[in-house]
Amino acid sequence: MFRKADPILEAKNVSRVFPASGGRRLYANSDVNLTLYRGRTLGIAGESGCGKSTMARMLAQLDKPTKGEIRFKGKDITHLRGEALRQTRRHIQMVFQDPAAAFSPKMKVKDILCEPLLNFGIISKKETEAAAVRLLEMVELPGDFSHRYAHSMSGGQRQRVGIARALALEPEILICDEATSALDVSVQRNIIDLLVKLQQERNLTIAFICHDVSLVRSMSHQIAIMYLGHVVELIPGKLVGKCAMHPYTQVLINAIFSLNMDFSKPIQSVDSDAPSPLDLPAGCPFQNRCGHCMKICRETKPVLRETAPGHQIACHLYR
Ligand SMILES: Nc1ncnc2c1ncn2[C@@H]1O[C@H](COP(=O)(O)OP(=O)(O)O)[C@@H](O)[C@H]1O
Ligand code: SF4
Ligand SMILES: [Mg+2]
Repeated sequence: MFRKADPILEAKNVSRVFPASGGRRLYANSDVNLTLYRGRTLGIAGESGCGKSTMARMLAQLDKPTKGEIRFKGKDITHLRGEALRQTRRHIQMVFQDPAAAFSPKMKVKDILCEPLLNFGIISKKETEAAAVRLLEMVELPGDFSHRYAHSMSGGQRQRVGIARALALEPEILICDEATSALDVSVQRNIIDLLVKLQQERNLTIAFICHDVSLVRSMSHQIAIMYLGHVVELIPGKLVGKCAMHPYTQVLINAIFSLNMDFSKPIQSVDSDAPSPLDLPAGCPFQNRCGHCMKICRETKPVLRETAPGHQIACHLYR
């Protein structure tokens, strides 16, 4: 059974709109509600372009919503600036697809790991070696890697360095955006095992964002399935294989078992193309690809409704 913990980070009716050519508006996220619970993992899955990274950046305070609120421990942090923003960001850190590759090839691992600690005045220059060794050991890498350069390590080792850097400031929340997507399958598994271990040791809250539902479900207490900027289903991770109810989630799940498909490509199991986030239809965002579409689906946008503890669906089939 899904049991809720303390809400720690919440998106409340969050939309992010980007201006597009010809005065049009691109809806990357539309009225999204999400809750991260302390010590738990929320998976966020869906096809490429459905708005996962845009949501991740707003949760991590790297971008601001066009509308709606981001709440951290019940406090509205949407419009923080300056030092208050810097202090809040410290508690919500992000891991990207290949974070260590983003650093200068001239930086040693030690400098990559200790930069946040030096920026916040937590350690002095002469304490960097010991701090780097401690962080490397936390992610199960040898301490002498501190003198290596990122480019001389494997993808999996670089991602461990990325996780160590993100955890250097002891944040309460880690937002992993496609953090394992560039890695081989066996290395992905090792990184997920590491994240689960770190979560248990530190009561860490994780948002694990990935286009691959089969990978997300292996570590998520709850999964938000996104489609064209909307959350269409929120489901306990353990139930996603057998209890997914939204027609879009069912397409994703059937594809796992039938095709071993690549979720970074548009799904093939429905005939028509996904509408662009520039031309969102009135009503349900999935209507032109859904085999169950009814008149009401073209007129009224379905909202998330709870059908069981921890399970919500936005679909007129389940009114
Ligand atoms: N800075 C931006 N300016 C304009 N459009 C953007 C920007 N960032 C993202 N988008 C658009 O928003 C939509 C969602 O993108 P994104 O959040 O990156 O999706 P995902 O991470 O699920 O692949 C896409 O249509 C993308 O092209
Ligand atoms: S609301 Fe209608 S169109 Fe949308 S997924 Fe449900 S049945 Fe299909
Ligand atoms: Mg993305």
